[in-house]
Amino acid sequence: MDLSRVRETYETVGLDEADLAADPVAQFHRWFGEVEAAGYWEPNAMVLSTVTADGWPSARNVLLKRIDDRGFVFFTNYTSDKAIELDAAGRAALTFSWTELRRQVRVVGTAQRLTDDESDLYWRTRPRGSQLGAWASDQSVVVSGRAVLEEAFASAEERWAGREVERPEQWGGFRVRPDSVEFWQGRPDRLHDRIRFCRSGDGWDVERRSP
Ligand SMILES: Cc1cc2nc3c(=O)[nH]c(=O)nc-3n(C[C@H](O)[C@H](O)[C@H](O)COP(=O)(O)O)c2cc1C
Repeated sequence: MDLSRVRETYETVGLDEADLAADPVAQFHRWFGEVEAAGYWEPNAMVLSTVTADGWPSARNVLLKRIDDRGFVFFTNYTSDKAIELDAAGRAALTFSWTELRRQVRVVGTAQRLTDDESDLYWRTRPRGSQLGAWASDQSVVVSGRAVLEEAFASAEERWAGREVERPEQWGGFRVRPDSVEFWQGRPDRLHDRIRFCRSGDGWDVERRSP
């Protein structure tokens, strides 16, 4: 697919208040469908930003696995830096960069662990290799070398040989419940469209911000 043609189309059409979906989740679905159709590799990659106990920003990519009225869901290891930061601060930002289409989505909200049942449901869909990898890695902990990980993977293989791999307690999901979601569409002459949904009671206020 020729992405430069696609990009031009989005720059011309832009993002108009009159064409917005009623809520940011519906608007996100609309854009995500278009990004997928444009042939993106991992369009669900997003930068998850957290804040450390002493106020440092901390950011990394994760994969969005579900989005519904309650929020944006991803999975990780609960021993990881991100999980410690989310558990402590309960706040997160998510950034999607779909630059070929001149698009960005920014989410700010509160973060909470999923229930065990929700994490189990997704765990069962994971390939066995990824499940064993989760047992082998205490994510974000310093190790003396790759051999440590390979040995831990081999022990996990041995432990779970011939049976279903159970979800480790320290692996699961988080949901980010959005307080605001901003959709950015690049336009010619830097007159970009920035439309932000802000939670207001049971609904959403919509505002346009200067680019
Ligand atoms: C495209 C991409 C997708 C990723 N997806 C995930 C993910 O869904 N969950 C996860 O725990 N780490 C994922 N990672 C790895 C994280 O970026 C990060 O290295 C890891 O989670 C440790 O982060 P932390 O030490 O800040 O907790 C992904 C990395 C990339 C580049």
